[in-house]
Amino acid sequence: MAAPTVMDKLVSLCKRRGFVFQSSEIYGGLGSVWDYGPLGAELKKNVKDRWWNAMVRARDDIEGLDAAILMHPRVWEASGHVAGFTDPLVDCKTCKSRFRADQLGSSQCPQKPSKHPGEHTTCELTEPRMFNLMFKTFMGPVEESASVVYLRPETAQGIYVNYLNVLQSSRQKVPFGIAQIGKAFRNEITPGNFIFRTREFEQMEMQYFVRPGEDAEWFDRWRAIRMAWHQENGLNPEKLRWHEHSGTELAHYARAAYDIEYEFPFGWNEIEGIHNRGDFDLTRHQEFSGKKLEYFDQAANTRYLPNIVETSGGADRITLTLLVDAFREEQVEGETRTVLGFHPAIAPIKAAVLPLVNKDGMPEIAKELFNDLRKRFACFFDDGGAIGRRYRRMDEVGTPFCITVDGQTATEHSVTVRHRDTMGQDRVELGKVLGYLTERLAG
Ligand code: GAP
Repeated sequence: MAAPTVMDKLVSLCKRRGFVFQSSEIYGGLGSVWDYGPLGAELKKNVKDRWWNAMVRARDDIEGLDAAILMHPRVWEASGHVAGFTDPLVDCKTCKSRFRADQLGSSQCPQKPSKHPGEHTTCELTEPRMFNLMFKTFMGPVEESASVVYLRPETAQGIYVNYLNVLQSSRQKVPFGIAQIGKAFRNEITPGNFIFRTREFEQMEMQYFVRPGEDAEWFDRWRAIRMAWHQENGLNPEKLRWHEHSGTELAHYARAAYDIEYEFPFGWNEIEGIHNRGDFDLTRHQEFSGKKLEYFDQAANTRYLPNIVETSGGADRITLTLLVDAFREEQVEGETRTVLGFHPAIAPIKAAVLPLVNKDGMPEIAKELFNDLRKRFACFFDDGGAIGRRYRRMDEVGTPFCITVDGQTATEHSVTVRHRDTMGQDRVELGKVLGYLTERLAG
Protein backbone atom coordinates (compact mmCIF):
# COMPACT_ATOMS: atom_id res chain seq x y z
CA MET A 1 0.00 0.00 0.00
CA ALA A 2 1.31 3.48 -0.89
CA ALA A 3 2.52 5.61 2.05
CA PRO A 4 -0.02 8.27 3.10
CA THR A 5 0.55 11.68 1.51
CA VAL A 6 0.62 14.96 3.45
CA MET A 7 -2.99 15.54 2.39
CA ASP A 8 -4.02 12.05 3.59
CA LYS A 9 -2.42 12.77 6.97
CA LEU A 10 -4.02 16.19 7.23
CA VAL A 11 -7.50 14.94 6.30
CA SER A 12 -7.19 12.19 8.90
CA LEU A 13 -5.96 14.65 11.58
CA CYS A 14 -8.82 17.01 10.75
CA LYS A 15 -11.36 14.27 11.32
CA ARG A 16 -9.70 12.74 14.41
CA ARG A 17 -9.26 16.07 16.20
CA GLY A 18 -12.55 17.67 15.20
CA PHE A 19 -11.54 20.20 12.54
CA VAL A 20 -13.51 18.97 9.51
CA PHE A 21 -16.02 16.15 8.96
CA GLN A 22 -17.66 14.92 5.79
CA SER A 23 -21.22 16.24 5.52
CA SER A 24 -23.96 13.69 6.32
CA GLU A 25 -21.30 11.05 6.95
CA ILE A 26 -23.67 8.50 8.49
CA TYR A 27 -25.57 8.47 5.18
CA GLY A 28 -22.41 7.90 3.18
CA GLY A 29 -21.51 11.57 2.80
CA LEU A 30 -22.53 14.24 0.29
CA GLY A 31 -20.12 14.94 -2.56
CA SER A 32 -17.66 17.74 -1.74
CA VAL A 33 -19.64 19.23 1.12
CA TRP A 34 -17.91 19.44 4.50
CA ASP A 35 -18.80 20.33 8.10
CA TYR A 36 -16.52 22.07 10.58
CA GLY A 37 -16.13 20.47 14.00
CA PRO A 38 -15.36 22.30 17.25
CA LEU A 39 -11.74 23.17 16.40
CA GLY A 40 -12.42 23.81 12.73
CA ALA A 41 -15.24 26.21 13.58
CA GLU A 42 -12.85 28.19 15.84
CA LEU A 43 -10.10 28.14 13.21
CA LYS A 44 -12.32 29.36 10.39
CA LYS A 45 -13.86 31.98 12.68
CA ASN A 46 -10.37 33.29 13.43
CA VAL A 47 -9.71 33.60 9.68
CA LYS A 48 -12.96 35.49 9.12
CA ASP A 49 -12.51 37.71 12.18
CA ARG A 50 -9.00 38.67 11.11
CA TRP A 51 -10.26 39.52 7.63
CA TRP A 52 -13.20 41.55 8.99
CA ASN A 53 -10.96 43.40 11.46
CA ALA A 54 -8.39 44.25 8.79
CA MET A 55 -10.89 45.15 6.06
CA VAL A 56 -13.74 46.82 7.99
CA ARG A 57 -12.94 47.70 11.60
CA ALA A 58 -9.42 49.01 11.05
CA ARG A 59 -10.39 51.23 8.11
CA ASP A 60 -12.44 54.40 7.78
CA ASP A 61 -13.21 53.83 4.11
CA ILE A 62 -14.86 50.37 4.17
CA GLU A 63 -18.33 49.44 5.42
CA GLY A 64 -19.63 45.96 6.22
CA LEU A 65 -22.66 44.27 4.66
CA ASP A 66 -24.55 41.00 5.12
CA ALA A 67 -26.74 40.52 2.05
CA ALA A 68 -29.15 37.61 1.52
CA ILE A 69 -28.14 34.46 -0.35
CA LEU A 70 -31.31 34.56 -2.49
CA MET A 71 -31.54 37.48 -4.90
CA HIS A 72 -33.84 38.60 -7.69
CA PRO A 73 -33.19 36.28 -10.69
CA ARG A 74 -32.54 39.27 -12.95
CA VAL A 75 -29.39 39.95 -10.88
CA TRP A 76 -27.81 36.83 -12.38
CA GLU A 77 -28.80 37.84 -15.90
CA ALA A 78 -27.20 41.24 -15.39
CA SER A 79 -24.07 39.76 -13.84
CA GLY A 80 -23.58 37.41 -16.81
CA HIS A 81 -23.92 34.24 -14.71
CA VAL A 82 -27.06 32.90 -16.44
CA ALA A 83 -25.44 33.10 -19.85
CA GLY A 84 -21.80 32.58 -19.03
CA PHE A 85 -21.13 30.87 -15.69
CA THR A 86 -20.62 27.55 -17.40
CA ASP A 87 -17.98 24.87 -17.70
CA PRO A 88 -17.65 22.46 -20.63
CA LEU A 89 -18.57 18.98 -19.41
CA VAL A 90 -17.89 15.56 -20.92
CA ASP A 91 -19.19 12.19 -19.70
CA CYS A 92 -17.50 8.84 -20.14
CA LYS A 93 -20.15 6.31 -21.15
CA THR A 94 -17.93 3.44 -19.97
CA CYS A 95 -16.99 4.46 -16.42
CA LYS A 96 -19.84 6.99 -15.94
CA SER A 97 -17.39 9.66 -14.71
CA ARG A 98 -17.66 13.37 -15.53
CA PHE A 99 -14.77 15.61 -16.51
CA ARG A 100 -14.21 19.21 -17.42
CA ALA A 101 -13.47 19.17 -21.13
CA ASP A 102 -10.86 21.92 -20.67
CA GLN A 103 -9.04 19.95 -17.95
CA LEU A 104 -8.74 16.49 -19.52
CA GLY A 105 -4.96 16.86 -19.67
CA SER A 106 -4.73 17.22 -15.87
CA SER A 107 -7.36 14.54 -15.05
CA GLN A 108 -6.90 10.81 -14.59
CA CYS A 109 -8.86 8.04 -16.26
CA PRO A 110 -10.52 6.24 -13.30
CA GLN A 111 -10.04 2.86 -15.07
CA LYS A 112 -6.35 3.48 -15.83
CA PRO A 113 -4.94 6.36 -13.76
CA SER A 114 -1.70 6.55 -15.79
CA LYS A 115 -3.83 7.76 -18.73
CA HIS A 116 -5.95 10.86 -19.21
CA PRO A 117 -9.70 10.49 -19.85
CA GLY A 118 -10.23 9.54 -23.48
CA GLU A 119 -6.80 7.90 -23.84
CA HIS A 120 -7.60 4.42 -22.49
CA THR A 121 -8.90 1.88 -25.01
CA THR A 122 -12.28 1.52 -23.27
CA CYS A 123 -12.96 5.28 -22.82
CA GLU A 124 -16.02 6.60 -24.63
CA LEU A 125 -16.31 10.36 -24.11
CA THR A 126 -19.37 12.35 -25.15
CA GLU A 127 -19.14 15.65 -27.00
CA PRO A 128 -18.60 18.58 -24.58
CA ARG A 129 -21.76 20.38 -23.46
CA MET A 130 -21.97 23.58 -21.47
CA PHE A 131 -23.08 23.14 -17.88
CA ASN A 132 -24.22 26.08 -15.70
CA LEU A 133 -22.66 25.96 -12.23
CA MET A 134 -25.46 27.79 -10.41
CA PHE A 135 -27.74 25.83 -8.10
CA LYS A 136 -31.40 26.47 -8.93
CA THR A 137 -34.35 26.29 -6.59
CA PHE A 138 -37.94 27.60 -6.52
CA MET A 139 -39.43 30.41 -4.51
CA GLY A 140 -42.97 29.83 -3.29
CA PRO A 141 -45.11 26.69 -3.62
CA VAL A 142 -45.11 26.27 -7.41
CA GLU A 143 -42.15 24.68 -9.16
CA GLU A 144 -42.31 26.55 -12.48
CA SER A 145 -39.82 28.54 -14.49
CA ALA A 146 -41.30 31.84 -13.31
CA SER A 147 -40.38 31.05 -9.72
CA VAL A 148 -36.77 29.95 -10.28
CA VAL A 149 -34.22 31.53 -7.97
CA TYR A 150 -30.53 30.74 -7.62
CA LEU A 151 -28.27 30.13 -4.66
CA ARG A 152 -25.71 32.89 -5.16
CA PRO A 153 -22.46 31.69 -6.76
CA GLU A 154 -20.56 34.72 -5.37
CA THR A 155 -21.27 37.32 -2.69
CA ALA A 156 -20.18 40.27 -4.86
CA GLN A 157 -23.56 40.91 -6.49
CA GLY A 158 -25.22 41.60 -3.11
CA ILE A 159 -22.73 44.43 -2.72
CA TYR A 160 -23.30 45.99 -6.17
CA VAL A 161 -27.07 46.09 -5.82
CA ASN A 162 -26.74 47.68 -2.36
CA TYR A 163 -23.99 50.15 -3.18
CA LEU A 164 -26.23 53.24 -3.21
CA ASN A 165 -27.99 52.14 0.02
CA VAL A 166 -24.66 51.79 1.79
CA LEU A 167 -23.29 55.00 0.30
CA GLN A 168 -26.27 57.05 1.38
CA SER A 169 -26.68 55.52 4.85
CA SER A 170 -22.99 55.63 5.75
CA ARG A 171 -22.23 59.03 4.16
CA GLN A 172 -19.08 57.64 2.58
CA LYS A 173 -17.55 59.27 -0.46
CA VAL A 174 -15.79 57.65 -3.40
CA PRO A 175 -13.24 56.08 -2.99
CA PHE A 176 -14.81 53.70 -0.52
CA GLY A 177 -15.45 49.99 -0.13
CA ILE A 178 -18.07 47.47 0.98
CA ALA A 179 -17.03 44.14 2.49
CA GLN A 180 -18.96 41.01 3.26
CA ILE A 181 -18.47 37.44 4.33
CA GLY A 182 -21.04 34.86 3.29
CA LYS A 183 -21.92 31.53 1.78
CA ALA A 184 -21.71 30.90 -1.95
CA PHE A 185 -22.70 27.79 -3.90
CA ARG A 186 -21.32 26.31 -7.12
CA ASN A 187 -22.29 23.00 -8.66
CA GLU A 188 -18.64 22.27 -9.50
CA ILE A 189 -18.05 19.44 -11.99
CA THR A 190 -14.70 18.45 -10.53
CA PRO A 191 -14.59 19.50 -6.89
CA GLY A 192 -11.96 17.99 -4.66
CA ASN A 193 -8.78 18.20 -2.68
CA PHE A 194 -10.66 18.21 0.60
CA ILE A 195 -12.03 21.72 1.36
CA PHE A 196 -10.11 23.33 -1.54
CA ARG A 197 -12.93 23.15 -4.07
CA THR A 198 -16.37 22.45 -2.65
CA ARG A 199 -19.96 22.99 -3.72
CA GLU A 200 -20.88 25.10 -0.69
CA PHE A 201 -18.26 27.53 0.62
CA GLU A 202 -17.78 30.93 2.19
CA GLN A 203 -16.33 33.96 0.47
CA MET A 204 -14.74 37.06 1.98
CA GLU A 205 -15.19 39.73 -0.69
CA MET A 206 -14.59 43.46 -0.77
CA GLN A 207 -15.63 45.77 -3.59
CA TYR A 208 -13.81 49.12 -3.70
CA PHE A 209 -15.55 51.92 -5.62
CA VAL A 210 -13.20 54.42 -7.26
CA ARG A 211 -13.25 57.33 -9.69
CA PRO A 212 -12.88 56.20 -13.33
CA GLY A 213 -9.23 56.51 -14.27
CA GLU A 214 -8.05 55.73 -10.73
CA ASP A 215 -8.81 52.00 -10.99
CA ALA A 216 -5.32 50.85 -12.05
CA GLU A 217 -3.70 52.69 -9.13
CA TRP A 218 -6.15 51.21 -6.58
CA PHE A 219 -5.77 47.77 -8.15
CA ASP A 220 -2.01 47.85 -7.40
CA ARG A 221 -2.66 49.12 -3.87
CA TRP A 222 -5.13 46.36 -3.10
CA ARG A 223 -2.85 43.70 -4.50
CA ALA A 224 -0.13 44.73 -2.04
CA ILE A 225 -2.53 44.93 0.92
CA ARG A 226 -3.98 41.50 0.31
CA MET A 227 -0.64 39.74 -0.17
CA ALA A 228 0.61 41.34 3.09
CA TRP A 229 -2.50 40.05 4.94
CA HIS A 230 -1.76 36.44 4.02
CA GLN A 231 1.83 36.82 5.19
CA GLU A 232 0.69 38.44 8.46
CA ASN A 233 -1.35 35.29 9.13
CA GLY A 234 1.92 33.39 9.14
CA LEU A 235 1.88 31.80 5.66
CA ASN A 236 5.34 30.97 4.38
CA PRO A 237 6.12 33.78 1.84
CA GLU A 238 8.09 31.33 -0.32
CA LYS A 239 4.91 29.38 -0.92
CA LEU A 240 2.99 32.43 -2.13
CA ARG A 241 3.19 33.94 -5.60
CA TRP A 242 1.24 36.03 -8.10
CA HIS A 243 -0.44 34.68 -11.19
CA GLU A 244 -1.51 37.30 -13.72
CA HIS A 245 -4.50 36.37 -15.87
CA SER A 246 -3.68 36.51 -19.57
CA GLY A 247 -6.23 37.85 -22.06
CA THR A 248 -7.84 34.45 -22.64
CA GLU A 249 -8.07 33.66 -18.90
CA LEU A 250 -9.73 36.97 -17.95
CA ALA A 251 -13.32 36.66 -16.69
CA HIS A 252 -15.96 38.49 -18.73
CA TYR A 253 -16.12 41.32 -16.17
CA ALA A 254 -12.40 41.92 -15.66
CA ARG A 255 -10.01 44.48 -17.14
CA ALA A 256 -7.14 42.91 -15.22
CA ALA A 257 -6.86 40.12 -12.67
CA TYR A 258 -4.18 38.61 -10.47
CA ASP A 259 -4.50 35.51 -8.31
CA ILE A 260 -2.60 35.01 -5.09
CA GLU A 261 -1.45 31.40 -5.38
CA TYR A 262 -0.17 29.01 -2.72
CA GLU A 263 1.98 25.94 -3.33
CA PHE A 264 -0.22 23.11 -2.03
CA PRO A 265 0.98 19.48 -1.96
CA PHE A 266 -1.17 19.12 -5.12
CA GLY A 267 0.47 22.10 -6.87
CA TRP A 268 0.22 25.91 -7.12
CA ASN A 269 -3.39 27.06 -6.84
CA GLU A 270 -5.41 30.23 -6.38
CA ILE A 271 -6.44 31.24 -2.86
CA GLU A 272 -7.63 34.80 -3.57
CA GLY A 273 -8.32 36.88 -6.68
CA ILE A 274 -7.83 40.64 -7.09
CA HIS A 275 -9.86 41.96 -10.00
CA ASN A 276 -10.14 45.29 -11.76
CA ARG A 277 -13.80 45.07 -12.81
CA GLY A 278 -13.98 48.57 -14.32
CA ASP A 279 -17.60 49.78 -14.65
CA PHE A 280 -18.92 46.42 -15.91
CA ASP A 281 -21.09 45.56 -12.90
CA LEU A 282 -22.74 48.92 -12.26
CA THR A 283 -23.32 49.48 -15.99
CA ARG A 284 -25.08 46.12 -16.25
CA HIS A 285 -27.19 46.57 -13.11
CA GLN A 286 -28.16 50.07 -14.24
CA GLU A 287 -29.23 48.67 -17.60
CA PHE A 288 -31.11 45.61 -16.27
CA SER A 289 -32.82 47.33 -13.32
CA GLY A 290 -33.57 50.59 -15.12
CA LYS A 291 -32.38 52.48 -11.99
CA LYS A 292 -29.74 55.20 -12.16
CA LEU A 293 -26.68 54.02 -10.24
CA GLU A 294 -24.47 57.06 -10.86
CA TYR A 295 -22.51 58.70 -8.10
CA PHE A 296 -22.59 62.48 -7.74
CA ASP A 297 -19.08 63.68 -7.00
CA GLN A 298 -19.66 66.97 -5.18
CA ALA A 299 -16.04 68.06 -5.14
CA ALA A 300 -15.72 67.67 -8.92
CA ASN A 301 -19.38 68.59 -9.58
CA THR A 302 -19.79 65.63 -11.88
CA ARG A 303 -21.70 62.32 -12.13
CA TYR A 304 -20.18 58.98 -13.01
CA LEU A 305 -20.46 55.22 -12.51
CA PRO A 306 -17.63 54.29 -10.16
CA ASN A 307 -15.11 51.66 -11.25
CA ILE A 308 -14.67 48.65 -9.01
CA VAL A 309 -11.61 46.88 -7.67
CA GLU A 310 -12.51 43.57 -6.06
CA THR A 311 -10.64 41.40 -3.57
CA SER A 312 -12.18 37.93 -3.39
CA GLY A 313 -10.94 35.14 -1.14
CA GLY A 314 -12.47 31.88 0.07
CA ALA A 315 -12.66 31.41 3.85
CA ASP A 316 -12.56 27.61 3.50
CA ARG A 317 -9.71 27.62 1.00
CA ILE A 318 -7.68 30.01 3.13
CA THR A 319 -8.40 27.81 6.18
CA LEU A 320 -7.07 24.82 4.23
CA THR A 321 -3.99 26.85 3.23
CA LEU A 322 -3.28 27.69 6.88
CA LEU A 323 -3.69 24.01 7.85
CA VAL A 324 -1.36 22.81 5.08
CA ASP A 325 1.22 25.51 5.82
CA ALA A 326 1.16 24.77 9.55
CA PHE A 327 1.37 20.97 9.29
CA ARG A 328 4.73 19.39 10.10
CA GLU A 329 6.10 16.15 11.49
CA GLU A 330 9.41 16.01 13.31
CA GLN A 331 11.41 13.41 15.20
CA VAL A 332 11.71 14.06 18.93
CA GLU A 333 13.46 11.53 21.12
CA GLY A 334 12.80 8.73 18.67
CA GLU A 335 9.10 9.56 18.26
CA THR A 336 7.22 11.44 15.56
CA ARG A 337 5.78 14.70 16.83
CA THR A 338 2.93 16.14 14.71
CA VAL A 339 2.58 19.90 14.98
CA LEU A 340 0.22 22.47 13.52
CA GLY A 341 2.51 25.49 13.86
CA PHE A 342 -0.24 28.13 13.49
CA HIS A 343 0.41 31.82 14.08
CA PRO A 344 -0.98 32.36 17.63
CA ALA A 345 -3.73 34.63 16.30
CA ILE A 346 -4.95 31.83 13.99
CA ALA A 347 -4.67 28.94 16.48
CA PRO A 348 -8.10 27.62 17.54
CA ILE A 349 -6.94 27.10 21.14
CA LYS A 350 -4.55 29.70 22.50
CA ALA A 351 -3.57 28.04 25.77
CA ALA A 352 -4.12 24.75 27.58
CA VAL A 353 -4.06 24.51 31.37
CA LEU A 354 -2.74 21.21 32.68
CA PRO A 355 -2.48 20.12 36.32
CA LEU A 356 0.63 17.92 36.49
CA VAL A 357 -1.16 15.36 38.69
CA ASN A 358 -4.71 15.12 40.01
CA LYS A 359 -3.86 15.71 43.67
CA ASP A 360 -2.16 18.07 46.13
CA GLY A 361 -4.45 20.97 45.20
CA MET A 362 -3.12 21.16 41.62
CA PRO A 363 -6.47 20.57 39.85
CA GLU A 364 -8.13 23.31 41.93
CA ILE A 365 -5.46 25.91 41.15
CA ALA A 366 -5.46 24.86 37.51
CA LYS A 367 -9.28 25.17 37.24
CA GLU A 368 -9.16 28.65 38.78
CA LEU A 369 -6.47 29.76 36.34
CA PHE A 370 -8.38 28.19 33.43
CA ASN A 371 -11.59 29.99 34.42
CA ASP A 372 -9.69 33.29 34.51
CA LEU A 373 -7.96 32.81 31.17
CA ARG A 374 -11.01 31.52 29.27
CA LYS A 375 -12.70 34.90 29.77
CA ARG A 376 -10.05 36.33 27.43
CA PHE A 377 -8.89 33.52 25.13
CA ALA A 378 -10.07 30.19 23.73
CA CYS A 379 -8.54 27.86 26.33
CA PHE A 380 -8.59 24.16 27.06
CA PHE A 381 -8.35 22.21 30.32
CA ASP A 382 -6.83 18.75 30.25
CA ASP A 383 -6.11 16.60 33.28
CA GLY A 384 -6.06 13.21 31.53
CA GLY A 385 -2.91 11.11 31.02
CA ALA A 386 0.84 11.64 31.16
CA ILE A 387 1.96 15.24 30.75
CA GLY A 388 4.06 14.40 27.66
CA ARG A 389 1.03 12.95 25.92
CA ARG A 390 -1.05 15.99 26.84
CA TYR A 391 1.62 18.28 25.31
CA ARG A 392 1.58 16.19 22.11
CA ARG A 393 -2.21 16.40 21.88
CA MET A 394 -1.97 20.18 22.07
CA ASP A 395 0.91 20.31 19.52
CA GLU A 396 -1.25 18.36 17.09
CA VAL A 397 -4.03 20.96 17.17
CA GLY A 398 -1.63 23.91 17.16
CA THR A 399 -2.02 25.28 20.72
CA PRO A 400 0.89 27.71 21.15
CA PHE A 401 1.11 27.58 24.97
CA CYS A 402 0.64 24.88 27.61
CA ILE A 403 0.52 26.01 31.23
CA THR A 404 1.40 23.35 33.76
CA VAL A 405 0.41 23.64 37.39
CA ASP A 406 2.90 21.55 39.34
CA GLY A 407 4.15 20.84 42.89
CA GLN A 408 5.83 24.25 43.17
CA THR A 409 2.75 26.22 42.15
CA ALA A 410 1.06 26.16 45.59
CA THR A 411 4.19 27.20 47.46
CA GLU A 412 5.93 29.48 44.93
CA HIS A 413 2.84 30.81 43.10
CA SER A 414 4.32 30.10 39.69
CA VAL A 415 3.58 27.82 36.73
CA THR A 416 5.48 26.43 33.76
CA VAL A 417 4.63 27.85 30.35
CA ARG A 418 5.67 25.46 27.59
CA HIS A 419 6.10 26.75 24.03
CA ARG A 420 4.74 24.59 21.21
CA ASP A 421 7.45 25.27 18.61
CA THR A 422 10.65 25.24 20.68
CA MET A 423 9.25 23.03 23.47
CA GLY A 424 11.19 25.42 25.75
CA GLN A 425 9.69 26.25 29.14
CA ASP A 426 9.47 29.48 31.17
CA ARG A 427 8.60 29.82 34.82
CA VAL A 428 5.94 32.52 35.16
CA GLU A 429 4.34 33.95 38.30
CA LEU A 430 0.74 32.83 38.61
CA GLY A 431 -0.52 36.43 38.73
CA LYS A 432 1.40 37.33 35.55
CA VAL A 433 0.21 34.52 33.25
CA LEU A 434 -2.57 36.60 31.71
CA GLY A 435 -0.16 39.45 30.84
CA TYR A 436 2.45 36.98 29.56
CA LEU A 437 -0.06 35.39 27.17
CA THR A 438 -1.68 38.67 26.13
CA GLU A 439 1.71 40.01 25.03
CA ARG A 440 2.53 36.90 23.03
CA LEU A 441 -0.90 36.40 21.46
CA ALA A 442 -1.19 39.96 20.13
CA GLY A 443 -0.82 40.57 16.42
N1 GAP B 1 -16.45 37.57 -7.18
C1 GAP B 1 -15.35 36.99 -7.85
C2 GAP B 1 -15.20 35.55 -7.60
O1 GAP B 1 -16.07 34.90 -7.06
P1 GAP B 1 -13.59 33.55 -8.03
O2 GAP B 1 -12.14 33.55 -8.49
O3 GAP B 1 -14.54 32.72 -8.77
O4 GAP B 1 -14.02 35.08 -8.03
C3 GAP B 1 -12.92 33.86 -5.52
O5 GAP B 1 -13.63 33.12 -6.50
C4 GAP B 1 -12.39 32.95 -4.44
O6 GAP B 1 -13.45 32.15 -3.90
C5 GAP B 1 -11.33 31.94 -4.88
O7 GAP B 1 -10.04 32.52 -4.87
C6 GAP B 1 -11.45 30.86 -3.83
O8 GAP B 1 -10.71 31.21 -2.67
C7 GAP B 1 -12.93 30.89 -3.49
N2 GAP B 1 -13.64 29.83 -4.23
C8 GAP B 1 -14.15 29.88 -5.48
N3 GAP B 1 -14.75 28.72 -5.82
C9 GAP B 1 -14.62 27.90 -4.75
C10 GAP B 1 -15.03 26.56 -4.47
N4 GAP B 1 -15.71 25.83 -5.34
N5 GAP B 1 -14.70 26.04 -3.25
C11 GAP B 1 -14.02 26.76 -2.34
N6 GAP B 1 -13.63 28.03 -2.55
C12 GAP B 1 -13.91 28.60 -3.73
